[in-house]
Amino acid sequence: FPTDLTELVRNHIREIPDFPSPGILFRDITPLLADGPAFTALIDGLADAYRGSVDAVAGLESRGFILAAPLAAALGVGMITVRKSGRLPGPVIGVDYALEYGDARMELRPETIADGQRVLIVDDVLATGGTGAAAVELVQRAGGQVTGLAMLLELADLGGRGRLEGHRVDSVLVY
Ligand code: PRP
Ligand code: MG
Repeated sequence: FPTDLTELVRNHIREIPDFPSPGILFRDITPLLADGPAFTALIDGLADAYRGSVDAVAGLESRGFILAAPLAAALGVGMITVRKSGRLPGPVIGVDYALEYGDARMELRPETIADGQRVLIVDDVLATGGTGAAAVELVQRAGGQVTGLAMLLELADLGGRGRLEGHRVDSVLVY
């Protein structure tokens, strides 16, 4: 991504120490979303990077939806909703994965992806990579071809990129 896009994002992230628990530095994207010109520039910048190369954008509930939906519309392609457990009516496929505390499950309606469709997975944060890896598995099981993952923020220390080996991972801002 262009450097000015990275700087724009950096300048609109709020850092909150000790949230949600002591010792954690939380990176809050709400100032970026709330700033109309900044949010528009972000979506335009993402769209420029992927125009013509994807057939669908898969957003990961919840915060991934905020980015995936306007990006899909800007690209003129469909948006696939990868949702948390129990939200989607069937038939669904699901992948269980471990979070730092406890377990989680992501689900997808496989019929929302056409065979061989080129799918870009979009989320706000890449941390341990568990969520992204679950999404990759779901898209592939549904018959889609994962062209890559686009992340707004990447917390490099947590090693998420390593869990997504073999896939293109683009992060706008890496910490
Ligand atoms: C956060 C974030 C990513 C995920 C990254 O989602 O939005 O989806 O964690 O972590 P990982 O790389 O270690 O899997 P969260 O589960 O907090 O839910 P939310 O999007 O609904 O806020
Ligand atoms: Mg999330």
